[in-house]
Amino acid sequence: MDPRSPNESKTELSTFMQPEHANLQGNVHGGWIMKLVDEAGALAAMRHCRRPCVTVAIDSMTFHAPVLVGDLIVLESSITYVGRTSIETMVTVYTEKILTGQRTLTNTAFVVYVALDDQRQPTAVAPLLLESELEKRRFEQGRARQQERLARARRDQES
Ligand SMILES: CC(C)(COP(=O)(O)OP(=O)(O)OC[C@H]1O[C@@H](n2cnc3c(N)ncnc32)[C@H](O)[C@@H]1OP(=O)(O)O)[C@@H](O)C(=O)NCCC(=O)NCCS
Repeated sequence: MDPRSPNESKTELSTFMQPEHANLQGNVHGGWIMKLVDEAGALAAMRHCRRPCVTVAIDSMTFHAPVLVGDLIVLESSITYVGRTSIETMVTVYTEKILTGQRTLTNTAFVVYVALDDQRQPTAVAPLLLESELEKRRFEQGRARQQERLARARRDQES
């Protein structure tokens, strides 16, 4: 399988926040933002491997700024690390004030997907083509995060 650059699968998703996404104070629910994060990450993962993918792990998420009704929420996702069948995506979430263009970073999340074959079993994905120093650094950081996730999953199973 030929290696593929993170640029080939980079995805931007944006959607306008409506009252049904929010509580009575107008703050968009964290769970709704998490759903969009999962969607944005999955799109980048599936673009990378051109296979159906399922979410296997979502790292903890912290919301640094509110997302309000009337904001445009912008989610940028890109591949940071791939294993044999797994793909880690980094999803960066911004709000954009539609009338001014002012953007605020609300959070960054890492989500891991597994590519499936036609029998819904994990299947190998294309390696990641690492060209820039940033891509190489992100890959190493992703590898370390993945090792930690697997160690945590083993600890959870043992307890
Ligand atoms: C994802 C799933 C197919 C993996 O099955 P599995 O039997 O654990 O398969 P494997 O052991 O071969 O692992 C597959 C990959 O997942 C990775 N993985 C497994 N558990 C993981 C965890 N807790 N965190 C991160 N990665 C994990 C493995 O390291 C492996 O990656 P690699 O091939 O790059 O090394 C299975 O757990 C599943 O179907 N889960 C439910 C998915 C789902 O419904 N998601 C929500 C809706 S999309």
